[in-house]
Amino acid sequence: MVGTAEAAAPPAIVRNEKDGRFETEDKQAFLQYHLRDVTVLAVEGGQAKEKKKTAMDMVHTYVPRRKRGLGLAGHLCVAAFTHAQRNSMIVIPTCSYVSDTFLPRNPLWNSLVYKEERKSCDCLHSLLSLFRDNISPAFE
Ligand code: COA
Repeated sequence: MVGTAEAAAPPAIVRNEKDGRFETEDKQAFLQYHLRDVTVLAVEGGQAKEKKKTAMDMVHTYVPRRKRGLGLAGHLCVAAFTHAQRNSMIVIPTCSYVSDTFLPRNPLWNSLVYKEERKSCDCLHSLLSLFRDNISPAFE
């Protein structure tokens, strides 16, 4: 049953660092990303601290028409998320395939996603610090 084994084998996905892509060996299917610096709020020793992190912004996924519907885009995502996890990056799922199809079907990867609340948290944290630093004794 060579045919079945071949059909079940996951396709080889390689990282093309120069072009910011995870792609099939023939380069026809790919997930395009940009690396960005972001600030996140991390709790260390009971204290919230701002930390710089690298985010992998997954901007576009493409699979040639004749190969669609076979899970190839999912394999590209797994390779990209695995790389992000191994390199302590967080992920921005800009591409609709990643946000609307891959993540709902593979929710374990949600832990890597850069959430809007973290940005809101950043703002809230800054406001609280500002308030704390400038608070009048009357309010203490
Ligand atoms: N956004 C979100 N999900 C999409 C989608 C899109 N633009 N296009 C297709 N999907 C979903 C389909 O609904 C399909 O769901 P089904 O399994 O219920 O039929 C699922 O993706 C198929 O998953 P998978 O087999 O892993 O994907 P694929 O290998 O067929 O590739 C795309 C999916 C989106 C990469 C491919 O259709 C493509 O290249 N489209 C043109 C480019 C594009 O629209 N890219 C996404 C926006 S950046």
